[in-house]
Amino acid sequence: MRRCVGRKWRKSRLFIFMSALAFFCLVIRYAKVCENICLSTTEPSAPQTNRQRLTEQHGINCSDIYDMDPVALGKSLSLRRRAVPVLDDEDIANATSDCGLYLASKGYRSVHTSAAEQEFPLAYSLVVHKDAAMVERILRAIYVPQNIYCIHYDLKSSPHFIAAMKGLAHCLPNVFISSRLERVQYASITRLLADLNCLSDLMESPVKWKYAINLCGQDFPLRSNAELVEELKALKGASMLESVRPSELKKQRYSYRYELKNAQSQYHQIPVKTDQAKPPPPHNIQMFVGSAYFTLSREFVSFVQSSPLVKDFLSWSEDTYSPDEHFWATLIRFPGIPSEVLPSHPDISDMLSKTRLVKWQYMEGSLYPSCTGIHVRSVCIYGAAELRWLLNEGHWFANKLDPRVDPVLVECLEEKLEERQRGMSTAH
Ligand SMILES: *[C@@H]1O[C@H](CO)[C@@H](O)[C@H](O)[C@H]1NC(C)=O
Ligand SMILES: *[C@@H]1O[C@H](CO)[C@@H](O)[C@H](O)[C@H]1NC(C)=O
Repeated sequence: MRRCVGRKWRKSRLFIFMSALAFFCLVIRYAKVCENICLSTTEPSAPQTNRQRLTEQHGINCSDIYDMDPVALGKSLSLRRRAVPVLDDEDIANATSDCGLYLASKGYRSVHTSAAEQEFPLAYSLVVHKDAAMVERILRAIYVPQNIYCIHYDLKSSPHFIAAMKGLAHCLPNVFISSRLERVQYASITRLLADLNCLSDLMESPVKWKYAINLCGQDFPLRSNAELVEELKALKGASMLESVRPSELKKQRYSYRYELKNAQSQYHQIPVKTDQAKPPPPHNIQMFVGSAYFTLSREFVSFVQSSPLVKDFLSWSEDTYSPDEHFWATLIRFPGIPSEVLPSHPDISDMLSKTRLVKWQYMEGSLYPSCTGIHVRSVCIYGAAELRWLLNEGHWFANKLDPRVDPVLVECLEEKLEERQRGMSTAH
């Protein structure tokens, strides 16, 4: 929850506004300075299309970025100080109105996959609410024809965003919109339901996928499809989830009832703690906490859908705080769930689980090198100097990436993953 939607809407709105203001001032200042000093050396940034990549326009070689070449990193930093134009939701909606042109221009038709990948299809649940251009890039980075992709957009999303998501689903036969859509309220059960809605649609798909993975709008893959398939095969049917023993603070999230209250408007509600204690979880379930992000085997998802115990646990979770952060973490320890992790098994931290690589500000320097992008609510939005680390750290997906923070990182990740996909799918 915390990772994709703002922790506190009020604060985050203010923060975004202040950041935007600061950024705007910086841009103005930079533009003024440039006008006076370096007018002759700067080219204007043209709108980004697939053929005119920013890195190409500005002579940045992604292999040099990967090799931490100081000149290339310097160029990426100066690019960050500019107002790099990003496509808005309406542009994506427009782009997908002509599917033939859209698919050809984005390279969808030249995706190569090996026989090994074709025999091991994957399913994705994309729970997104804004920034269609980024969603389109995530989808393109994980797209292969044999996989199946469910998009859950928020009922609160803007009409242009919704049109863009429908456009993507219309152009790609193995991409569809969830048959049931939620009005997703931060830290509430609706976030969990969005994924569950997609999972139940995915189970009904004719594609007999082996694993289901959920992503949000600020995630990005760190493995090509070919690489991911190899790593998932090595799990031998096990799921990959964070699952740790709860702190006393985290226990508060489900030992009291929470009620949805309006944050700023009727559209934005947050769960607020009441003084009513909740009964313990049904069936003596032992609680664990973790992340909202999962890599689940088909058998695991099938169990989740048919088990009356899971159903009871889900209803009990309805009035808890951010149930997505204890639901999956607890289920993997459930007696009898496929490839169950015993409650006595040690904690599976976010560093042990390969599902999502998140860089927390307070762990920088001890668990991982410092963030080279910016921090938003203690989470790093990665910068280009982290490209090598991200790709070699061992995780499968990263959170968070934003082309507005560092456009070079996203482009170079796209390029590196394409290279790896080509290399591996033809090597087999
Ligand atoms: C980037 O650099 C690598 C190695 O230094 C080189 O092989 C490659 O051709 C370069 N790419 C471009 C687009 O110049
Ligand atoms: C999208 O297309 C419509 C009609 O084709 C056009 O009026 C509108 O300006 C376009 N919007 C953008 C952002 O290109």
